[in-house]
Amino acid sequence: MTQLDTWLANTKPLIPVIVIDDLVHAIPMAKALVAGGVHLLEVTLRTEAGLAAISAIKKAVPEAIVGAGTVCTADDFQKAIDAGAQFIVSPGLTPELIEKAKQVKLDGQWQGVFLPGVATASEVMIAAQAGITQLKCFPASAIGGAKLLKAWSGPFPDIQFCPTGGISKDNYKEYLGLPNVICAGGSWLTESKLLIEGDWNEVTRRASEIVKLSDI
Ligand code: 3PG
Repeated sequence: MTQLDTWLANTKPLIPVIVIDDLVHAIPMAKALVAGGVHLLEVTLRTEAGLAAISAIKKAVPEAIVGAGTVCTADDFQKAIDAGAQFIVSPGLTPELIEKAKQVKLDGQWQGVFLPGVATASEVMIAAQAGITQLKCFPASAIGGAKLLKAWSGPFPDIQFCPTGGISKDNYKEYLGLPNVICAGGSWLTESKLLIEGDWNEVTRRASEIVKLSDI
């Protein structure tokens, strides 16, 4: 059982993909998601505030499991784990990231989850060779969606996926119903206008809505 399996046994299989433009939004947003039953939070490093948001949420919202997204280099990886990220998500799979993930585990620095993105069968095979069997499938809807994931279950029966990119409340269940999908991610729960307006009730409402759909 992997660390991700353990988390998923106790949380809902949804990972909001979060972009924090203003650090003051981080804590109320995380509290709003947790109030709605969503605990795995991917804060992307797409903005300056990303790393500080990870640290702030980690300290102030202990019910949240906080990860870093859009981690593209070994340097980003290090900064994210220094900020307290419990999982690392990358849009793609590079030898540099595979090496970094291996190194920080070997030297005992970090025992979190590395969830690299794949978009082709060859990348799935490279990940499997590196011993990584739980992968983000990105950008899922643009590269074939549920049909693609269904097709991959034939040659790759031992690989599990977290699709992101084009997932919404309308297709979430379709993805989650696939045997090789363990969770799904997306940005709609924390749409930027909700954060700017401080509409935390709507963030909680969207979280609760998806949590209800998770019970399949
Ligand atoms: C990601 O990084 O996973 C995506 O940007 C999320 O995609 P979405 O905005 O289509 O949900």
